[in-house]
Amino acid sequence: MIPILDFGSQTAQLIARRVREVGAFSLLVRPDISVEELRSLNPRGIILSGGPASTLDEGAPRCDPEIFDLGVPVLGICYGMQLGCLLLGASIERANSREFGRAALHIVHPGGLLAAIPERTAVWMSHGDQVRDLDPQRFTTLGTTPTCPHAAVQYEHEGLRFFGVQFHPEVTHTPHGIDILQNFIYEICGCTGSWRMSDFARSTVAQIKEIVGTARVVCGLSGGVDSSVAAVLLHKAIGDQLTCVFVDNGLLRKSERRLVETTFRDHFEIDLRVVDASDQFLADLAGITDPQEKRRRIGHRFIEVFKNATTDLKDARFLAQGTLYPDVIESGHGHAGHSANIKLHHNVGGLPDDLGFELIEPLRELFKDEVRKLGEVLGLPDQIVWRHPFPGPGLAVRVLGEVTRDKLDLLRECDEILLEEIVANQLYRRTSQVFAVLLPVQSVGVMGDGRTYESVVAIRAVESQDFMTADWARLPFDVLATISNRIINEVRGVNRVVYDISSKPPATIEWE
Ligand code: XMP
Repeated sequence: MIPILDFGSQTAQLIARRVREVGAFSLLVRPDISVEELRSLNPRGIILSGGPASTLDEGAPRCDPEIFDLGVPVLGICYGMQLGCLLLGASIERANSREFGRAALHIVHPGGLLAAIPERTAVWMSHGDQVRDLDPQRFTTLGTTPTCPHAAVQYEHEGLRFFGVQFHPEVTHTPHGIDILQNFIYEICGCTGSWRMSDFARSTVAQIKEIVGTARVVCGLSGGVDSSVAAVLLHKAIGDQLTCVFVDNGLLRKSERRLVETTFRDHFEIDLRVVDASDQFLADLAGITDPQEKRRRIGHRFIEVFKNATTDLKDARFLAQGTLYPDVIESGHGHAGHSANIKLHHNVGGLPDDLGFELIEPLRELFKDEVRKLGEVLGLPDQIVWRHPFPGPGLAVRVLGEVTRDKLDLLRECDEILLEEIVANQLYRRTSQVFAVLLPVQSVGVMGDGRTYESVVAIRAVESQDFMTADWARLPFDVLATISNRIINEVRGVNRVVYDISSKPPATIEWE
Protein backbone atom coordinates (compact mmCIF):
# COMPACT_ATOMS: atom_id res chain seq x y z
CA MET A 1 0.00 0.00 0.00
CA ILE A 2 1.38 3.37 -1.05
CA PRO A 3 -1.02 6.18 -0.09
CA ILE A 4 -0.81 9.44 -2.00
CA LEU A 5 -1.40 12.69 -0.16
CA ASP A 6 -3.36 14.69 -2.71
CA PHE A 7 -2.41 18.35 -2.82
CA GLY A 8 -4.79 18.96 -5.70
CA SER A 9 -2.73 18.01 -8.72
CA GLN A 10 -4.54 17.31 -11.98
CA THR A 11 -2.51 14.12 -12.19
CA ALA A 12 -2.77 12.86 -8.60
CA GLN A 13 -5.07 10.01 -9.54
CA LEU A 14 -2.78 9.16 -12.41
CA ILE A 15 0.02 8.57 -9.89
CA ALA A 16 -2.25 6.16 -8.00
CA ARG A 17 -3.08 4.38 -11.18
CA ARG A 18 0.61 4.04 -12.18
CA VAL A 19 1.41 2.59 -8.76
CA ARG A 20 -1.42 0.07 -9.16
CA GLU A 21 -0.21 -0.76 -12.66
CA VAL A 22 3.13 -1.90 -11.32
CA GLY A 23 1.46 -4.05 -8.68
CA ALA A 24 1.25 -2.04 -5.45
CA PHE A 25 -2.02 -0.76 -4.06
CA SER A 26 -2.53 2.97 -3.95
CA LEU A 27 -5.25 5.43 -3.08
CA LEU A 28 -5.52 9.18 -2.74
CA VAL A 29 -5.90 10.49 0.79
CA ARG A 30 -6.47 13.97 2.14
CA PRO A 31 -3.28 15.98 2.56
CA ASP A 32 -4.16 16.71 6.18
CA ILE A 33 -4.66 13.03 7.06
CA SER A 34 -3.49 12.34 10.60
CA VAL A 35 -0.37 10.32 11.25
CA GLU A 36 -2.45 7.73 13.13
CA GLU A 37 -4.78 7.28 10.17
CA LEU A 38 -1.84 6.99 7.84
CA ARG A 39 -0.18 4.44 10.12
CA SER A 40 -3.37 2.37 10.19
CA LEU A 41 -3.06 1.93 6.42
CA ASN A 42 0.21 0.12 7.05
CA PRO A 43 1.98 1.90 4.19
CA ARG A 44 5.24 0.71 2.64
CA GLY A 45 5.90 4.21 1.35
CA ILE A 46 4.13 7.53 0.93
CA ILE A 47 3.83 9.85 -2.06
CA LEU A 48 3.14 13.58 -1.84
CA SER A 49 1.46 14.72 -5.05
CA GLY A 50 1.85 17.95 -6.94
CA GLY A 51 -0.64 20.75 -6.59
CA PRO A 52 -1.54 24.23 -7.77
CA ALA A 53 -0.48 26.10 -4.61
CA SER A 54 2.88 27.68 -3.81
CA THR A 55 4.61 26.78 -0.55
CA LEU A 56 5.59 30.47 -0.41
CA ASP A 57 1.97 31.54 -0.03
CA GLU A 58 0.28 31.85 3.30
CA GLY A 59 -2.22 29.08 3.91
CA ALA A 60 -0.66 26.75 1.34
CA PRO A 61 -1.64 23.15 2.13
CA ARG A 62 0.77 21.17 4.25
CA CYS A 63 0.94 17.70 5.67
CA ASP A 64 1.77 16.74 9.21
CA PRO A 65 5.62 16.74 9.35
CA GLU A 66 5.40 13.70 11.60
CA ILE A 67 4.63 11.55 8.57
CA PHE A 68 8.39 11.49 8.08
CA ASP A 69 8.69 9.68 11.41
CA LEU A 70 6.58 6.74 10.24
CA GLY A 71 9.81 5.10 9.14
CA VAL A 72 8.80 4.57 5.51
CA PRO A 73 10.29 6.31 2.46
CA VAL A 74 8.46 9.39 1.16
CA LEU A 75 8.50 10.57 -2.46
CA GLY A 76 7.49 14.14 -3.21
CA ILE A 77 6.44 15.09 -6.73
CA CYS A 78 6.53 18.76 -7.85
CA TYR A 79 4.69 20.66 -5.07
CA GLY A 80 5.15 17.53 -2.94
CA MET A 81 8.91 17.75 -3.45
CA GLN A 82 9.00 21.43 -2.50
CA LEU A 83 6.86 20.84 0.57
CA GLY A 84 8.95 17.85 1.68
CA CYS A 85 12.19 19.76 1.22
CA LEU A 86 10.76 22.76 3.07
CA LEU A 87 9.66 20.62 6.02
CA LEU A 88 13.15 19.10 6.08
CA GLY A 89 14.86 22.49 6.31
CA ALA A 90 15.44 23.53 2.69
CA SER A 91 14.38 26.86 1.21
CA ILE A 92 12.10 27.43 -1.74
CA GLU A 93 12.20 30.30 -4.22
CA ARG A 94 10.21 31.57 -7.16
CA ALA A 95 12.21 30.29 -10.14
CA ASN A 96 13.71 32.91 -12.47
CA SER A 97 12.62 30.81 -15.33
CA ARG A 98 9.45 28.79 -14.94
CA GLU A 99 9.50 25.39 -16.57
CA PHE A 100 6.42 24.09 -18.36
CA GLY A 101 6.58 21.11 -20.66
CA ARG A 102 9.54 19.11 -21.79
CA ALA A 103 12.89 19.58 -20.04
CA ALA A 104 16.22 17.78 -20.25
CA LEU A 105 17.19 16.03 -17.02
CA HIS A 106 20.88 15.44 -16.42
CA ILE A 107 21.48 12.75 -13.83
CA VAL A 108 24.42 13.72 -11.64
CA HIS A 109 24.00 11.00 -9.05
CA PRO A 110 22.88 7.74 -10.63
CA GLY A 111 21.49 4.71 -8.82
CA GLY A 112 18.74 4.55 -6.20
CA LEU A 113 15.68 6.44 -7.34
CA LEU A 114 17.24 7.03 -10.75
CA ALA A 115 18.80 3.56 -11.17
CA ALA A 116 19.00 2.37 -14.79
CA ILE A 117 17.76 5.71 -16.16
CA PRO A 118 19.88 7.15 -19.03
CA GLU A 119 22.21 9.95 -17.89
CA ARG A 120 20.28 12.40 -20.03
CA THR A 121 16.56 11.94 -20.38
CA ALA A 122 13.43 13.97 -21.10
CA VAL A 123 11.09 14.84 -18.23
CA TRP A 124 7.80 16.74 -18.06
CA MET A 125 7.86 19.87 -15.91
CA SER A 126 5.13 22.18 -14.69
CA HIS A 127 6.38 24.54 -11.96
CA GLY A 128 7.02 28.16 -11.06
CA ASP A 129 8.78 27.61 -7.68
CA GLN A 130 11.81 25.47 -7.01
CA VAL A 131 14.06 24.23 -4.24
CA ARG A 132 17.01 26.57 -3.58
CA ASP A 133 19.23 25.86 -0.59
CA LEU A 134 19.73 22.34 0.70
CA ASP A 135 21.82 21.11 3.60
CA PRO A 136 24.56 19.20 1.77
CA GLN A 137 25.12 16.97 4.80
CA ARG A 138 21.65 15.54 4.45
CA PHE A 139 20.52 16.23 0.90
CA THR A 140 22.00 14.87 -2.32
CA THR A 141 21.07 16.37 -5.65
CA LEU A 142 20.37 13.50 -8.02
CA GLY A 143 19.57 15.42 -11.20
CA THR A 144 19.42 18.90 -12.68
CA THR A 145 17.93 20.63 -15.70
CA PRO A 146 19.39 23.76 -17.35
CA THR A 147 17.16 26.01 -15.21
CA CYS A 148 16.40 23.82 -12.18
CA PRO A 149 19.50 23.06 -10.09
CA HIS A 150 17.70 20.51 -7.91
CA ALA A 151 15.37 18.64 -10.24
CA ALA A 152 15.68 15.39 -8.26
CA VAL A 153 16.92 15.09 -4.68
CA GLN A 154 17.38 12.59 -1.90
CA TYR A 155 17.42 13.24 1.86
CA GLU A 156 18.86 10.78 4.36
CA HIS A 157 19.27 11.37 8.06
CA GLU A 158 18.73 9.15 11.07
CA GLY A 159 16.75 6.57 9.13
CA LEU A 160 14.48 9.16 7.51
CA ARG A 161 14.43 8.86 3.73
CA PHE A 162 12.83 11.43 1.49
CA PHE A 163 13.05 11.65 -2.30
CA GLY A 164 11.86 14.50 -4.44
CA VAL A 165 11.38 15.03 -8.16
CA GLN A 166 10.44 18.41 -9.53
CA PHE A 167 9.13 16.79 -12.73
CA HIS A 168 6.12 14.49 -13.20
CA PRO A 169 7.09 10.82 -13.49
CA GLU A 170 3.43 9.79 -13.75
CA VAL A 171 2.78 11.30 -17.20
CA THR A 172 3.71 9.52 -20.40
CA HIS A 173 5.67 12.59 -21.55
CA THR A 174 8.32 11.53 -19.02
CA PRO A 175 9.48 8.43 -20.91
CA HIS A 176 11.31 6.85 -17.96
CA GLY A 177 8.77 8.05 -15.40
CA ILE A 178 7.33 4.61 -14.79
CA ASP A 179 10.87 3.25 -14.22
CA ILE A 180 11.47 5.95 -11.62
CA LEU A 181 8.21 5.07 -9.85
CA GLN A 182 9.17 1.41 -9.99
CA ASN A 183 12.55 2.18 -8.44
CA PHE A 184 10.75 3.94 -5.62
CA ILE A 185 8.12 1.25 -5.13
CA TYR A 186 10.27 -1.87 -5.49
CA GLU A 187 13.83 -0.89 -4.60
CA ILE A 188 13.25 1.85 -2.05
CA CYS A 189 9.95 0.83 -0.43
CA GLY A 190 10.54 -2.90 -0.85
CA CYS A 191 7.18 -3.71 -2.43
CA THR A 192 7.07 -6.94 -4.41
CA GLY A 193 4.57 -5.94 -7.07
CA SER A 194 2.17 -8.68 -6.05
CA TRP A 195 -0.95 -6.52 -5.71
CA ARG A 196 -3.70 -7.52 -8.14
CA MET A 197 -7.23 -6.35 -8.89
CA SER A 198 -8.44 -9.43 -7.00
CA ASP A 199 -6.90 -7.88 -3.86
CA PHE A 200 -8.92 -4.74 -4.49
CA ALA A 201 -12.04 -6.89 -4.79
CA ARG A 202 -11.23 -8.66 -1.52
CA SER A 203 -10.49 -5.55 0.51
CA THR A 204 -13.46 -3.65 -0.90
CA VAL A 205 -15.78 -6.54 -0.09
CA ALA A 206 -14.50 -6.44 3.50
CA GLN A 207 -15.02 -2.67 3.69
CA ILE A 208 -18.55 -2.90 2.31
CA LYS A 209 -19.44 -5.58 4.87
CA GLU A 210 -18.18 -3.38 7.66
CA ILE A 211 -20.01 -0.26 6.51
CA VAL A 212 -23.32 -1.93 5.66
CA GLY A 213 -23.60 -4.25 8.64
CA THR A 214 -27.07 -5.75 8.59
CA ALA A 215 -28.72 -2.97 6.59
CA ARG A 216 -30.06 -3.30 3.08
CA VAL A 217 -28.52 -1.78 -0.06
CA VAL A 218 -30.34 -0.75 -3.20
CA CYS A 219 -28.47 -0.57 -6.48
CA GLY A 220 -29.82 0.90 -9.70
CA LEU A 221 -28.66 -1.34 -12.52
CA SER A 222 -28.43 0.13 -15.99
CA GLY A 223 -26.77 -2.83 -17.69
CA GLY A 224 -23.62 -0.78 -18.27
CA VAL A 225 -20.27 -1.96 -17.01
CA ASP A 226 -20.02 0.43 -14.04
CA SER A 227 -23.30 -0.32 -12.29
CA SER A 228 -22.94 -4.02 -13.15
CA VAL A 229 -19.50 -4.30 -11.55
CA ALA A 230 -20.69 -2.33 -8.52
CA ALA A 231 -23.68 -4.66 -8.13
CA VAL A 232 -21.64 -7.86 -8.32
CA LEU A 233 -19.06 -6.51 -5.89
CA LEU A 234 -21.82 -5.62 -3.43
CA HIS A 235 -23.46 -8.97 -3.88
CA LYS A 236 -20.19 -10.67 -3.02
CA ALA A 237 -20.05 -8.62 0.16
CA ILE A 238 -23.62 -8.72 1.42
CA GLY A 239 -25.47 -11.35 -0.64
CA ASP A 240 -29.22 -11.05 -0.34
CA GLN A 241 -29.05 -7.79 1.60
CA LEU A 242 -28.67 -6.30 -1.89
CA THR A 243 -31.64 -5.48 -4.08
CA CYS A 244 -31.00 -4.31 -7.64
CA VAL A 245 -33.50 -2.28 -9.57
CA PHE A 246 -33.52 -2.20 -13.34
CA VAL A 247 -35.90 0.27 -14.91
CA ASP A 248 -37.17 -0.64 -18.35
CA ASN A 249 -37.96 2.81 -19.68
CA GLY A 250 -38.98 1.58 -23.10
CA LEU A 251 -35.94 3.34 -24.52
CA LEU A 252 -33.57 0.38 -24.36
CA ARG A 253 -31.85 -1.57 -27.07
CA LYS A 254 -33.44 -4.78 -28.22
CA SER A 255 -31.77 -7.39 -26.04
CA GLU A 256 -30.82 -5.12 -23.16
CA ARG A 257 -33.42 -6.18 -20.62
CA ARG A 258 -32.99 -9.89 -21.34
CA LEU A 259 -29.21 -9.64 -20.94
CA VAL A 260 -29.55 -7.93 -17.57
CA GLU A 261 -32.14 -10.43 -16.36
CA THR A 262 -30.20 -13.51 -17.40
CA THR A 263 -26.88 -12.19 -16.13
CA PHE A 264 -27.92 -10.92 -12.75
CA ARG A 265 -30.95 -12.97 -11.79
CA ASP A 266 -30.04 -16.29 -13.37
CA HIS A 267 -26.26 -16.28 -13.31
CA PHE A 268 -25.42 -14.29 -10.18
CA GLU A 269 -28.71 -15.00 -8.36
CA ILE A 270 -29.05 -11.38 -7.35
CA ASP A 271 -32.39 -10.10 -6.06
CA LEU A 272 -33.35 -8.12 -9.14
CA ARG A 273 -36.48 -6.06 -9.55
CA VAL A 274 -37.28 -5.24 -13.15
CA VAL A 275 -39.74 -2.40 -13.35
CA ASP A 276 -41.50 -1.97 -16.66
CA ALA A 277 -42.28 1.72 -16.76
CA SER A 278 -42.17 2.14 -20.52
CA ASP A 279 -45.75 3.39 -20.75
CA GLN A 280 -45.05 6.19 -18.30
CA PHE A 281 -41.82 7.24 -19.99
CA LEU A 282 -43.39 7.21 -23.44
CA ALA A 283 -46.39 9.17 -22.21
CA ASP A 284 -44.02 11.78 -20.76
CA LEU A 285 -42.24 12.03 -24.09
CA ALA A 286 -45.35 12.39 -26.27
CA GLY A 287 -45.10 15.47 -28.45
CA ILE A 288 -41.67 16.46 -27.09
CA THR A 289 -38.99 17.24 -29.65
CA ASP A 290 -36.44 19.28 -27.68
CA PRO A 291 -33.54 17.02 -26.61
CA GLN A 292 -32.95 18.72 -23.25
CA GLU A 293 -36.64 18.55 -22.41
CA LYS A 294 -36.58 14.83 -23.27
CA ARG A 295 -33.64 14.38 -20.89
CA ARG A 296 -35.35 16.36 -18.15
CA ARG A 297 -38.57 14.37 -18.34
CA ILE A 298 -36.74 11.05 -18.46
CA GLY A 299 -34.63 12.04 -15.44
CA HIS A 300 -37.68 13.04 -13.41
CA ARG A 301 -39.61 9.94 -14.27
CA PHE A 302 -36.63 7.76 -13.43
CA ILE A 303 -36.44 9.18 -9.91
CA GLU A 304 -40.15 8.67 -9.45
CA VAL A 305 -40.07 5.07 -10.66
CA PHE A 306 -36.97 4.27 -8.65
CA LYS A 307 -38.49 5.71 -5.51
CA ASN A 308 -41.70 3.70 -5.92
CA ALA A 309 -39.78 0.52 -6.59
CA THR A 310 -37.86 0.77 -3.35
CA THR A 311 -40.31 2.20 -0.80
CA ASP A 312 -41.37 -1.21 0.50
CA LEU A 313 -37.78 -2.27 1.23
CA LYS A 314 -37.24 -2.36 4.96
CA ASP A 315 -34.03 -0.98 6.39
CA ALA A 316 -32.75 0.12 2.98
CA ARG A 317 -30.19 2.60 4.23
CA PHE A 318 -27.76 2.64 1.36
CA LEU A 319 -27.82 3.34 -2.34
CA ALA A 320 -24.95 1.86 -4.35
CA GLN A 321 -23.71 3.59 -7.46
CA GLY A 322 -21.03 2.75 -9.98
CA THR A 323 -19.46 6.21 -9.94
CA LEU A 324 -15.92 6.16 -11.38
CA TYR A 325 -13.04 8.47 -10.68
CA PRO A 326 -13.52 10.59 -13.83
CA ASP A 327 -17.17 11.20 -12.80
CA VAL A 328 -16.01 12.26 -9.35
CA ILE A 329 -13.53 14.71 -10.79
CA GLU A 330 -15.94 16.07 -13.38
CA SER A 331 -18.48 16.77 -10.68
CA GLY A 332 -15.80 18.63 -8.71
CA HIS A 333 -16.13 16.52 -5.59
CA GLY A 334 -12.54 15.34 -5.43
CA HIS A 335 -11.53 12.47 -3.22
CA ALA A 336 -13.11 11.82 0.11
CA GLY A 337 -10.11 10.59 2.03
CA HIS A 338 -9.36 7.05 2.99
CA SER A 339 -11.99 6.22 5.54
CA ALA A 340 -14.74 7.46 3.28
CA ASN A 341 -13.38 6.18 0.04
CA ILE A 342 -16.37 4.03 -0.71
CA LYS A 343 -18.98 6.08 1.03
CA LEU A 344 -19.91 9.60 0.23
CA HIS A 345 -22.86 11.80 0.93
CA HIS A 346 -22.67 13.80 -2.24
CA ASN A 347 -24.39 12.40 -5.19
CA VAL A 348 -22.76 12.55 -8.56
CA GLY A 349 -24.88 9.90 -10.21
CA GLY A 350 -28.11 11.70 -11.03
CA LEU A 351 -30.37 10.65 -8.16
CA PRO A 352 -31.22 13.45 -5.73
CA ASP A 353 -29.98 13.58 -2.15
CA ASP A 354 -33.48 13.65 -0.70
CA LEU A 355 -34.14 10.02 -1.58
CA GLY A 356 -32.94 9.42 1.94
CA PHE A 357 -30.13 7.00 1.19
CA GLU A 358 -26.49 7.12 2.11
CA LEU A 359 -24.31 6.44 -0.89
CA ILE A 360 -21.87 3.62 -1.42
CA GLU A 361 -19.57 4.09 -4.38
CA PRO A 362 -17.08 1.23 -4.40
CA LEU A 363 -15.52 2.18 -7.75
CA ARG A 364 -14.84 5.83 -7.09
CA GLU A 365 -11.06 5.35 -7.06
CA LEU A 366 -10.93 3.54 -10.38
CA PHE A 367 -10.61 4.38 -14.04
CA LYS A 368 -12.78 2.68 -16.65
CA ASP A 369 -10.19 0.15 -17.75
CA GLU A 370 -9.55 -0.79 -14.13
CA VAL A 371 -13.28 -1.37 -13.66
CA ARG A 372 -13.26 -3.66 -16.68
CA LYS A 373 -10.39 -5.60 -15.15
CA LEU A 374 -12.35 -5.84 -11.91
CA GLY A 375 -15.42 -7.01 -13.84
CA GLU A 376 -13.34 -9.81 -15.34
CA VAL A 377 -11.99 -10.76 -11.92
CA LEU A 378 -15.58 -10.94 -10.62
CA GLY A 379 -16.62 -13.22 -13.47
CA LEU A 380 -18.92 -10.89 -15.37
CA PRO A 381 -19.50 -11.94 -18.99
CA ASP A 382 -17.51 -10.20 -21.76
CA GLN A 383 -20.73 -8.81 -23.15
CA ILE A 384 -21.08 -6.65 -20.06
CA VAL A 385 -17.42 -6.04 -19.24
CA TRP A 386 -16.63 -4.71 -22.73
CA ARG A 387 -19.93 -2.95 -23.31
CA HIS A 388 -19.92 0.36 -25.14
CA PRO A 389 -21.47 3.17 -23.11
CA PHE A 390 -25.18 3.73 -23.57
CA PRO A 391 -26.70 7.07 -22.55
CA GLY A 392 -29.23 7.22 -19.71
CA PRO A 393 -31.94 8.70 -21.98
CA GLY A 394 -31.32 5.77 -24.30
CA LEU A 395 -32.93 5.66 -27.71
CA ALA A 396 -34.98 8.79 -26.92
CA VAL A 397 -31.99 10.87 -28.04
CA ARG A 398 -31.44 8.64 -31.06
CA VAL A 399 -34.97 8.98 -32.39
CA LEU A 400 -34.57 12.58 -33.49
CA GLY A 401 -37.64 14.70 -32.93
CA GLU A 402 -40.73 13.17 -31.40
CA VAL A 403 -40.34 9.72 -29.84
CA THR A 404 -43.02 7.12 -30.53
CA ARG A 405 -43.22 3.41 -29.93
CA ASP A 406 -43.18 2.66 -33.67
CA LYS A 407 -40.10 4.75 -34.27
CA LEU A 408 -38.35 3.11 -31.31
CA ASP A 409 -39.21 -0.34 -32.64
CA LEU A 410 -37.88 0.54 -36.06
CA LEU A 411 -34.66 1.95 -34.63
CA ARG A 412 -34.18 -1.12 -32.41
CA GLU A 413 -34.27 -3.38 -35.49
CA CYS A 414 -31.67 -1.25 -37.29
CA ASP A 415 -29.47 -1.03 -34.20
CA GLU A 416 -29.53 -4.78 -33.68
CA ILE A 417 -28.39 -5.46 -37.25
CA LEU A 418 -25.66 -2.85 -36.93
CA LEU A 419 -24.29 -4.37 -33.72
CA GLU A 420 -24.51 -7.91 -35.09
CA GLU A 421 -22.31 -6.90 -38.01
CA ILE A 422 -19.89 -4.94 -35.84
CA VAL A 423 -19.45 -7.95 -33.54
CA ALA A 424 -19.27 -10.46 -36.42
CA ASN A 425 -16.50 -8.43 -38.05
CA GLN A 426 -14.48 -8.19 -34.82
CA LEU A 427 -14.97 -4.43 -34.72
CA TYR A 428 -16.70 -4.11 -31.34
CA ARG A 429 -13.53 -3.96 -29.25
CA ARG A 430 -11.84 -1.70 -31.83
CA THR A 431 -14.55 0.95 -31.61
CA SER A 432 -15.69 2.94 -28.58
CA GLN A 433 -19.34 3.44 -29.38
CA VAL A 434 -21.49 2.33 -32.31
CA PHE A 435 -25.18 3.02 -32.79
CA ALA A 436 -27.95 3.87 -35.22
CA VAL A 437 -29.90 7.12 -35.31
CA LEU A 438 -33.36 7.54 -36.81
CA LEU A 439 -33.53 10.84 -38.67
CA PRO A 440 -36.74 12.87 -38.75
CA VAL A 441 -36.83 12.97 -42.53
CA GLN A 442 -38.12 10.73 -45.26
CA SER A 443 -36.32 10.23 -48.54
CA VAL A 444 -37.28 8.91 -51.92
CA GLY A 445 -36.11 5.48 -53.02
CA VAL A 446 -36.93 2.85 -55.54
CA MET A 447 -37.65 -0.77 -54.64
CA GLY A 448 -38.69 -3.27 -57.25
CA ASP A 449 -40.49 -1.14 -59.79
CA GLY A 450 -42.00 1.18 -57.24
CA ARG A 451 -41.14 4.49 -55.68
CA THR A 452 -40.71 4.52 -51.91
CA TYR A 453 -40.77 7.40 -49.47
CA GLU A 454 -39.29 6.11 -46.24
CA SER A 455 -37.03 6.78 -43.27
CA VAL A 456 -33.32 7.53 -43.26
CA VAL A 457 -31.07 5.90 -40.69
CA ALA A 458 -27.61 7.23 -39.79
CA ILE A 459 -24.83 5.01 -38.52
CA ARG A 460 -22.51 6.50 -35.91
CA ALA A 461 -19.26 4.73 -34.98
CA VAL A 462 -16.56 6.52 -33.01
CA GLU A 463 -13.21 5.92 -31.43
CA SER A 464 -12.49 7.79 -28.24
CA GLN A 465 -10.36 7.61 -25.11
CA ASP A 466 -12.58 9.59 -22.78
CA PHE A 467 -15.66 10.54 -24.86
CA MET A 468 -14.76 14.22 -24.46
CA THR A 469 -13.22 14.09 -27.92
CA ALA A 470 -13.83 11.44 -30.55
CA ASP A 471 -13.07 10.62 -34.13
CA TRP A 472 -15.34 8.76 -36.50
CA ALA A 473 -14.26 5.17 -36.96
CA ARG A 474 -12.88 4.20 -40.34
CA LEU A 475 -15.13 1.17 -40.70
CA PRO A 476 -14.27 -0.95 -43.75
CA PHE A 477 -16.45 -0.09 -46.74
CA ASP A 478 -17.52 -3.69 -47.24
CA VAL A 479 -18.79 -3.86 -43.65
CA LEU A 480 -20.70 -0.60 -44.17
CA ALA A 481 -22.09 -2.05 -47.38
CA THR A 482 -23.37 -5.15 -45.58
CA ILE A 483 -24.89 -3.07 -42.79
CA SER A 484 -26.66 -0.80 -45.26
CA ASN A 485 -27.92 -3.71 -47.33
CA ARG A 486 -29.20 -5.64 -44.38
CA ILE A 487 -30.96 -2.67 -42.79
CA ILE A 488 -32.70 -1.65 -45.98
CA ASN A 489 -33.69 -5.22 -46.84
CA GLU A 490 -34.67 -6.39 -43.39
CA VAL A 491 -36.22 -3.33 -41.78
CA ARG A 492 -39.48 -2.28 -43.34
CA GLY A 493 -39.75 1.50 -43.51
CA VAL A 494 -36.08 2.34 -44.13
CA ASN A 495 -34.83 3.00 -47.66
CA ARG A 496 -31.58 4.88 -47.00
CA VAL A 497 -28.58 4.47 -44.68
CA VAL A 498 -25.94 7.19 -44.24
CA TYR A 499 -22.63 7.15 -42.37
CA ASP A 500 -21.71 9.98 -40.00
CA ILE A 501 -18.15 11.21 -40.69
CA SER A 502 -18.03 14.02 -38.12
CA SER A 503 -15.51 14.18 -35.33
CA LYS A 504 -16.13 15.59 -31.83
CA PRO A 505 -15.58 18.49 -31.64
CA PRO A 506 -17.17 20.14 -33.54
CA ALA A 507 -19.98 17.55 -33.59
CA THR A 508 -20.96 15.51 -30.52
CA ILE A 509 -21.17 11.73 -30.32
CA GLU A 510 -24.94 11.64 -29.93
CA TRP A 511 -27.06 13.52 -32.43
CA GLU A 512 -29.27 15.07 -29.78
P1 XMP B 1 -21.82 13.56 -26.51
O1 XMP B 1 -23.03 13.36 -27.35
O2 XMP B 1 -21.97 14.64 -25.50
O3 XMP B 1 -21.66 12.21 -25.67
O4 XMP B 1 -20.56 13.70 -27.32
C1 XMP B 1 -20.55 11.88 -24.89
C2 XMP B 1 -20.84 10.56 -24.19
O5 XMP B 1 -21.90 10.75 -23.26
C3 XMP B 1 -23.02 9.93 -23.60
N1 XMP B 1 -24.22 10.76 -23.36
C4 XMP B 1 -25.02 10.63 -22.29
N2 XMP B 1 -24.96 9.77 -21.25
N3 XMP B 1 -26.91 10.78 -20.37
C5 XMP B 1 -25.93 9.85 -20.30
O6 XMP B 1 -25.92 9.04 -19.35
C6 XMP B 1 -27.01 11.67 -21.37
O7 XMP B 1 -27.92 12.50 -21.40
C7 XMP B 1 -26.00 11.59 -22.38
N4 XMP B 1 -25.78 12.30 -23.51
C8 XMP B 1 -24.68 11.78 -24.09
C9 XMP B 1 -22.82 9.57 -25.05
O8 XMP B 1 -23.49 8.35 -25.38
C10 XMP B 1 -21.31 9.47 -25.13
O9 XMP B 1 -20.85 8.23 -24.64
